[in-house]
Amino acid sequence: MTNLDGKALAAKIKKRVRGEASALPRRPGLAVVLVGNDPASRVYVTSKRKDCEECGFYSEEYALLEETTQAELIELVESLNKRENIDGILVQLPLPAHLDEDAVIGAIDPAKDVDGFHPMNAGNLLIGRPGFLPCTPAGIMDLLEEYGIETAGKRAVVVGRSNIVGKPMALLLLRGNATVTVCHSQTPDLGECCRQADILIAAVGRRGLITPNMVKTGAVVVDVAMNRDENGRLCGDVDYAAVCEKAAYLTPVPGGVGPMTRAALMENTLLAAKRRQNLA
Ligand code: GUN
Repeated sequence: MTNLDGKALAAKIKKRVRGEASALPRRPGLAVVLVGNDPASRVYVTSKRKDCEECGFYSEEYALLEETTQAELIELVESLNKRENIDGILVQLPLPAHLDEDAVIGAIDPAKDVDGFHPMNAGNLLIGRPGFLPCTPAGIMDLLEEYGIETAGKRAVVVGRSNIVGKPMALLLLRGNATVTVCHSQTPDLGECCRQADILIAAVGRRGLITPNMVKTGAVVVDVAMNRDENGRLCGDVDYAAVCEKAAYLTPVPGGVGPMTRAALMENTLLAAKRRQNLA
């Protein structure tokens, strides 16, 4: 079994991004907006700041109170849309329940939507036009490519259908000429479906969901989830120790998909900066 080492590839990508960024007339700028006190989101935002430093980007962080109103948040987004030195805007999700995520995402200038969540970018992905790709699926495609894993002609099964991961992942695999199935909570026999997969993507958020009897011998297994076990340690959806015995390739948690998501965000921000300086 080969470990798909996202940490190593992410380091390599960030080094390349740093080199390209330093050659631009103006360095890329990313604004990260966090509303409320979700501890996991806090950790993500801190790591994004470090990534920006590593890549030589300018970054701004907005930590807003839980009580922030919809109007205040949209006003901030609109002011960031107008800023010359800000190329990317990321509003950390989930937002507190009183805020309307769709409206906030919709307020981001699509040219600065480095998460790829705006309907304009989601639509461009659907019809195969250039835009911004959501970071996790884009990072996973980079990881498959790095290890020489072909998608064309393969059977790919995506478990999970979120707008952030499952749906865009399915579209990127389809773009890569895989035959794609999307499974979800109402799929009658999940195991039967997963066993067909040459490439299995688990993106649900339930520890122990993917057991070895659901994995075809020699499959490529990608674990997107970030769960915590009873000791508070990070773990994915895949029973790693057992699935190791069957998979040909497997992503660890942590050190697999997570670092790739962050690297893809840096790549998107670089791309946004190039486009906004008419260099891409
Ligand atoms: N919350 C979980 N993943 C993501 C992500 O990729 N982007 C944003 N903005 N929020 C998230």
